[in-house]
Amino acid sequence: MRKVVIAIDGPAAAGKSTVSKAVAKKLGYTYIDTGAMYRAFTEYCLRKGVDCQNEAACCALIPEVEITLYPDGKVMCSGKDVTREIREPHVSGNVSYIASYKDIRLAMVELQRKMAEKVSVVMDGRDIGTYVLPNADVKIYQIASVATRAIRRYDENISKGIPCTLEEIEEDVRKRDYIDSHREFAPLRCAPDAITLDTSFMSIDEVVNKIIEIINEKLAAKEHE
Ligand code: CDP
Repeated sequence: MRKVVIAIDGPAAAGKSTVSKAVAKKLGYTYIDTGAMYRAFTEYCLRKGVDCQNEAACCALIPEVEITLYPDGKVMCSGKDVTREIREPHVSGNVSYIASYKDIRLAMVELQRKMAEKVSVVMDGRDIGTYVLPNADVKIYQIASVATRAIRRYDENISKGIPCTLEEIEEDVRKRDYIDSHREFAPLRCAPDAITLDTSFMSIDEVVNKIIEIINEKLAAKEHE
């Protein structure tokens, strides 16, 4: 069986990770949550008391940061299980600064490409189709209105026991979208060959099924090339 690469990008809290995980499970591919890596790096900077807006100080930590993503969703960073903490507001509020630093991105991208080297993957993030895996077999750009995304993330946090308000979440989503799409290196962009999916009025199952349909069509077309 040939190795297949699926790239799913889009703005904050669009539901990419829920959908990507489900698509990967249905197809028997490996799911790679690149956002968790930037979040883990951010947690490490906060753990060390480093100001996340100080690029030089954050980049100086690169050699100390060791991130491992486990198949069950567990995230380890330099000796600490950070699975839960990386979803908390203090990490979300700082992650876009960390993700804007080129040297940190280069280190994360190297790891991401290595993880996708030998197995079929569904990788989600901001720059997967444009920068990390530009030759992906299928590229999806998943969007939804800010209001829908804020409600989705609010419900997700509450169900995980992470306290927050809807207003806070909406502000965080807007702020991250702005920083992510305005950074200089590998910003959030829709790749020219990506299929845009507006999921504002779609359920998770509908999005998952639509993406599987797109993947099947694309792979069948490639067989005939
Ligand atoms: O799940 P959510 O959409 O809230 O975000 P995430 O995928 O966990 O990503 C968290 C943050 O990491 C984003 O806001 C970006 O700043 C950064 N990120 C990135 O720059 N590039 C990626 N490939 C993935 C995430």
